[in-house]
Amino acid sequence: MTEKIEGEKSMGSLFFLVTCSVFLCFCSIYTESIAVNSITRSQPLSDGQTLVSGQERFVLGFFSAGVSRNRYVGIWYTDIPVQTVVWVANRDKPLIDSSGVLRIDVRGNLVLVNQKNYIFWSSNLSRAAENPVVELLESGNLVLQDQRGGVAGDFLWQSFDYPSDTLLPGMKLGWNLKTGLDRRLTSWKSPDDPSSGELSYGIELHGYPEAVMWKGTEEHYRSGPWNGLRYSGAPELAPNMVFSFSFTANADEVYYIYQLNQQGSILSRLVLNQSSNNGGELQRFTWNGKSNSWQLFLSVPRDYCDTYGLCGAYSNCDTNQSPPCRCLGGFKPKSLGNWNSMDWSGGCVQKTALSCKGHEGFLMFSGLKLPDTKRTWVNRSMDLNECEMMCLKNCSCNAYARADVRGGGSGCVLWFGDLIDIRQFPISSSSSGQDLFIRVDASELAVAQGDSKRKGKVIVAVTIALVSGILLLGCSGWYLWKWKINMTSPEGKEVDNEEQDIVEKSQMDDLELPCFNLATIAIATNNFSDSNKLGEGGFGPVYKGELCGGQEIAVKRLSKNSLQGIDEFKNEVILISKLQHRNLVKVLGCCIEGAETMLIYEYMENKSLDHYIFDEKRSTLLDWEKRFNIVFGIARGLLYLHQDSRLRIIHRDLKASNILLDCNMEPKISDFGMARIFGGDQIEAETDKVVGTYGYMSPEYAIEGLFSVKSDVFSFGVLVLEMVSGKKNRGFSKPEHQLNLLGHAWKLWNEGKALELIVPSVRDSCVATEVLRCIHVGLLCVQQQMENRPTMSSVVFMLGSENAVLPQPQQPGFFSEKYSTKASSSSSSMQHSSSTNCVTVTLLSGR
Ligand SMILES: *[C@@H]1O[C@H](CO)[C@@H](O)[C@H](O)[C@H]1NC(C)=O
Ligand SMILES: *[C@@H]1O[C@H](CO)[C@@H](O)[C@H](O)[C@H]1NC(C)=O
Repeated sequence: MTEKIEGEKSMGSLFFLVTCSVFLCFCSIYTESIAVNSITRSQPLSDGQTLVSGQERFVLGFFSAGVSRNRYVGIWYTDIPVQTVVWVANRDKPLIDSSGVLRIDVRGNLVLVNQKNYIFWSSNLSRAAENPVVELLESGNLVLQDQRGGVAGDFLWQSFDYPSDTLLPGMKLGWNLKTGLDRRLTSWKSPDDPSSGELSYGIELHGYPEAVMWKGTEEHYRSGPWNGLRYSGAPELAPNMVFSFSFTANADEVYYIYQLNQQGSILSRLVLNQSSNNGGELQRFTWNGKSNSWQLFLSVPRDYCDTYGLCGAYSNCDTNQSPPCRCLGGFKPKSLGNWNSMDWSGGCVQKTALSCKGHEGFLMFSGLKLPDTKRTWVNRSMDLNECEMMCLKNCSCNAYARADVRGGGSGCVLWFGDLIDIRQFPISSSSSGQDLFIRVDASELAVAQGDSKRKGKVIVAVTIALVSGILLLGCSGWYLWKWKINMTSPEGKEVDNEEQDIVEKSQMDDLELPCFNLATIAIATNNFSDSNKLGEGGFGPVYKGELCGGQEIAVKRLSKNSLQGIDEFKNEVILISKLQHRNLVKVLGCCIEGAETMLIYEYMENKSLDHYIFDEKRSTLLDWEKRFNIVFGIARGLLYLHQDSRLRIIHRDLKASNILLDCNMEPKISDFGMARIFGGDQIEAETDKVVGTYGYMSPEYAIEGLFSVKSDVFSFGVLVLEMVSGKKNRGFSKPEHQLNLLGHAWKLWNEGKALELIVPSVRDSCVATEVLRCIHVGLLCVQQQMENRPTMSSVVFMLGSENAVLPQPQQPGFFSEKYSTKASSSSSSMQHSSSTNCVTVTLLSGR
């Protein structure tokens, strides 16, 4: 009997609960659903209400960005699950509460005010409106029209004239010359802060207009001028099935616009994104309904050759060459010293100075992105011959080209001043790059004409000149030293090798990289004996060696699956050997003979980090101070690879055994640049064989093969947590749960017991605040979502500043042990186990 009563009671309370929640649901639906179609004097819009477009593609309302609580008025897509904001009214002046109202004031302006009537944003009409109505069009354009006396479509104000960070189809980017209105994109400061960031993108009004991306006050990327079909620097953006692009330049307007060919079925946006890779990009996204996500169609800058002015004046940037910068024919480096040490900013100068006395002509270069158009002059009706005459007549004219490439080409552009920011596109594909005619002295013309006949001879002559020049410059020390070795070497055969070696070297025009011959290396390593073997890396075995002079070296014998040819390989090694940082292992040279390809490094006597941190005894040799110093050093080395070096290297296999320690226990990252040497595609294809070590791999890399600087950041985070805990992430186990090291660290963190993570041998020497900061940074680095992970520059900052307020880490990627051991099997099991992950998440956050 009592039981039954109790049962009824609980039924009653259940009923009560249900009613309540239905009511609550109803309430929330009710507030959400106050959607209107227009704003008028009598119908303002307050926080919580929305204004929708006719077919409801777009909606305007109040929102908060990311973790921020500030309130903004903005426009976003109605049906896209991740709120994608395309326009913000009060981006630089947020409301701090939800008292905001968007209404029409006495003059007819649309204004955003708070409850004290303080104005946060206004449409600032130039003339008053009598009967203003504000509507959101299906294109995403917020418009204000005067319904009395106004003509339909005659907007007194429209949001398309004041872009935020996004260009939607049908929006103009550029100038209304009559009113002086300049429509340009400005990035958000961060995903949490829509205020104007440091990147902006707009049309520069030169003689021959082009779009330029600015980073603060510095030019960051140029689109190249519009050549009638497309931007000269973006051949892939010629009209295609999805988009049509156009550029208008007349006395009234200069603007760029794009449209979708099948309107309605596809969504697309062009966004200037400061929070993307490499410090900011202009990204073109299309919506993929199947995967329910935005798909990146294209982004610029694409590579280092897109970096504004990387190669200086009169020099051509070519990603297929290394080093990428080459002086144009007829030009030579302004400073050979700087040029050879990879500082190309000084650019090149005429080999024979121009006298402008009629002894001049033009050399044609094909497949180029046309140079900076700041000082240009355009005539759209001249033909190419008239153009040449025109340029020849004016001594300050340095080059000319066709202004329009359509229909065989027409028009004329002249360049005055230095030619900067040229890049090479593959000449083979017909639609890429343009012809540029550059003024040179007649003697250079003759050289160039002879060149095509006697090309071989000229190169030999140039090489000999270079060889002797560099020898004279005092770089001969190495050769002398090597000669000495060979003189004393027992094998007579070697002298032949030596000659061959030098011949080979002279074929490369960079002579600074020592190429060791095989015999030297064989002697140094005791004929690659097992006793000299230091270990086996992802790319092949590593041997210790000692050269005759006594210098100790480490020799990495590469397995033979590099896709590159020998010349490319050498060039790559030259580039990489020029990366110098105290936290990178120094590459001394290479050896290529027959089927053997080897890299020679400086030898690190203290072996690698994994020797210490995972070994109970040796672990005591690394006290906290040393550990913190090592963490810091690795971060700095990685930052150099990601940002400060000119090559933007993603390591892709950062782990304890790839961190070597010198005699001062200073960390040196090794195996960097291997990814470059082996070529990107191959690595992706052979992920589990060549590059990447489970336990250190980010989820997006392991599952989708996507790598970016953020995958290195993930590996770095794992490494930090391993250094603090003295445990390997892979194979970590605790009887009480199934989490791996990342999961364990996160659990302790959430329980406020993070200090329990620290390895006992270090407990006495540690500084608790530093340990906590390391764990905190480590957890930020291993977050599941790559966009949440910090960049290496913020990692270095966070590690170094005691008072910085760090964001709270979110769920790490791959934190269940089950998950990481399964990671090597197929992707379907991956999905399955990721749902296991979700369960773990709920359990954890429930505590
Ligand atoms: C900015 O770029 C990042 C990384 O590519 C991306 O995740 C993010 O969604 C982009 N932001 C916008 C507003 O599209
Ligand atoms: C050459 O062109 C520049 C730029 O248009 C102009 O200022 C200068 O007067 C011209 N010089 C001659 C000699 O025509």
